[in-house]
Amino acid sequence: MESLLSYEGKRAVVTGAYSGIGAALVELLRQSGADQIVALDIKEPESGVDEYIETDMGNPVSVDAALAAISANDRAVDVLFNNAGVAATLPADTVMRVNILGLKRLTNNLLPKMQSGGAIVNTASVAGNRWPEHLAQINAFLGIDSWDEGVAWVADNEALVADGYFFSKECVQVYTMLTAKTATAHGLRINSVCPSPVDTPLLPAFRETMTDEIIDWAIESGAGRVATAEDQARALLFLGSDLASYVNGVNLLVDGGYNAALQMGQVTLPGQ
Ligand SMILES: NC(=O)c1ccc[n+]([C@@H]2O[C@H](COP(=O)([O-])OP(=O)(O)OC[C@H]3O[C@@H](n4cnc5c(N)ncnc54)[C@H](O)[C@@H]3O)[C@@H](O)[C@H]2O)c1
Repeated sequence: MESLLSYEGKRAVVTGAYSGIGAALVELLRQSGADQIVALDIKEPESGVDEYIETDMGNPVSVDAALAAISANDRAVDVLFNNAGVAATLPADTVMRVNILGLKRLTNNLLPKMQSGGAIVNTASVAGNRWPEHLAQINAFLGIDSWDEGVAWVADNEALVADGYFFSKECVQVYTMLTAKTATAHGLRINSVCPSPVDTPLLPAFRETMTDEIIDWAIESGAGRVATAEDQARALLFLGSDLASYVNGVNLLVDGGYNAALQMGQVTLPGQ
């Protein structure tokens, strides 16, 4: 069993590895014997990684430079963790660039070069659970190849995109499902983890943009304690490992039961 969770001999790329869930993941990857951990972030992780490539996931030139640096190593990537993300304390355009446009660019370009048998794991969010309401529009957006046209689409769909956070995470969930077939064709899998509120440096930003009332309600509706970064990293580790060998195209709720309680009508949104 232990060997199925092992990352021995594997090369892993982690975006957003400096703090929070990404930093916790790097620690677990180390403990699981990962051979090489490559971090893509705007900030350099203090420890745990073998290679740091300074990358702004919201900038296509920077993402392309990271892709070139990753490929300069003749070892293929086994597991890609698309974890970097920002909250709506930043402009919607930035949120969409970092949370989905950069993620999609990195993944679409890296996927064909990845080691067969490997996996891609995205950090989405329960904030993206309402994607079925916007599937047609999300499909239209994700179908745009050009970065600049994608950015223009975001500007043209201001009302739908709103503050960018919920919509970007809906896009990540849909992208995960849409890409599962392509992943299969390359001998890979792609899944996401969908956290409810997590105690990381990003949580105050969510309290600011979504209110304390909503965040505390989501925590109380689920496990009654806020998730730790490690709670989320454990699920990421699982989905990237051989333990999840037949799991593909899944958005895994890691929310302490929050969504179950909501769907079963055991809790209702404040004010409803
Ligand atoms: N904290 C929560 O409550 C929560 C809930 C659901 C989903 N998430 C998601 O979890 C992921 C990780 O967030 P976290 O909570 O650990 O917060 P965090 O702020 O600790 O981590 C985000 C990481 O992304 C990096 N980053 C920020 N902007 C970047 C950019 N432009 N390019 C590259 N890297 C960049 C940061 O330096 C940091 O290492 C995000 O995708 C976030 O949306 C978080």
